[in-house]
Amino acid sequence: MMRHNPFESSQPRILPSILAADFAHLIDDLNLAFAAGGSFPHIDVMDGHFVPNLSIGVPIVQKLRRASDAFFDVHLMIDEPLRYAPAFVNAGANNITFHVESPEVKGDVAKAAKEIRGLGCHVGITVKPGTPIETVYPALEHVDLVLIMSVEPGFGGQKFMPAMLDKVRAVKPKLKPNQRIQIDGGIDATTIRAARQAGVDWFVVGSAIFDHPPYAQVIGDLQAQIDWA
Ligand code: DX5
Ligand code: ZN
Repeated sequence: MMRHNPFESSQPRILPSILAADFAHLIDDLNLAFAAGGSFPHIDVMDGHFVPNLSIGVPIVQKLRRASDAFFDVHLMIDEPLRYAPAFVNAGANNITFHVESPEVKGDVAKAAKEIRGLGCHVGITVKPGTPIETVYPALEHVDLVLIMSVEPGFGGQKFMPAMLDKVRAVKPKLKPNQRIQIDGGIDATTIRAARQAGVDWFVVGSAIFDHPPYAQVIGDLQAQIDWA
C-alpha cells in the first residue's frame, strides 16, 4: 500500500476535518479536498458525554478505510478513549489523539499514551482550552503529536481563541524533531498565519474549507498564509 507516513517529514500540513464535509457523499467530498491540496483527514469522534454532541464512530472509519489509503488522524472526544482505541486502530486509524480530561485517563497521561502506542499506531495528546498545557508534559516522551484545541471541542465553525497560541509556544521547545504540534478549531486564512508563526505543524480545517468551495482556492489561500509566515 502506498500510504505515506506524515510524521516522516516536518512539512506543514492542512488536514481537512471531515466533521464539516458532506456526510451524504463523504469519500467524494474528501477526495475533492485532497485533490485541492488537503493532506490527510482529521476524523472527529464524539460520544455525547465528553462533549455535548455526537458525531461518527468505528463503522464509518472502517468503511472510509476501504475507500481510501490516506493516513487517518482520529481525534477521540470521548469519556473512554482507552476502551475504544483498539477498535479504531483495527478499523484503520493511524493516529489516535486522546484528551487528558477524559475520565478514564484519570490524569495518568503517560500510562494512557503508552497503552495506545502499544496498539501499533501513532499517539496524540490534547487539552481543552481551559486545561493548562503542563498537564501533557508527563506524557511527552510517549506521544508523537500534541494537539492544542483552539475552540471548545464539540462543534465546528467556532471562533479561534488566539490565547491558545501561548500553549503552542510553551510546548514547542520541549518537542523532539520527529514530534508535531497540531491546532484544531477556527483555523482559516485570517488565523492560520499566527498559528504557523507560533510553531504549529499540522492545521485542522473544517468549515473554512467545506463551507467555502472551490476547495483549491481556499486551500491555496491557507497554504500561501503558511508560506508567508
Ligand atoms: C471541534 C473539532 C474540530 C472541528 C473544527 O470539536 O475537533 O476538528 O471540525 O472545525 P472548524 O475548522 O470549523 O473550527
Ligand atoms: Zn478535532
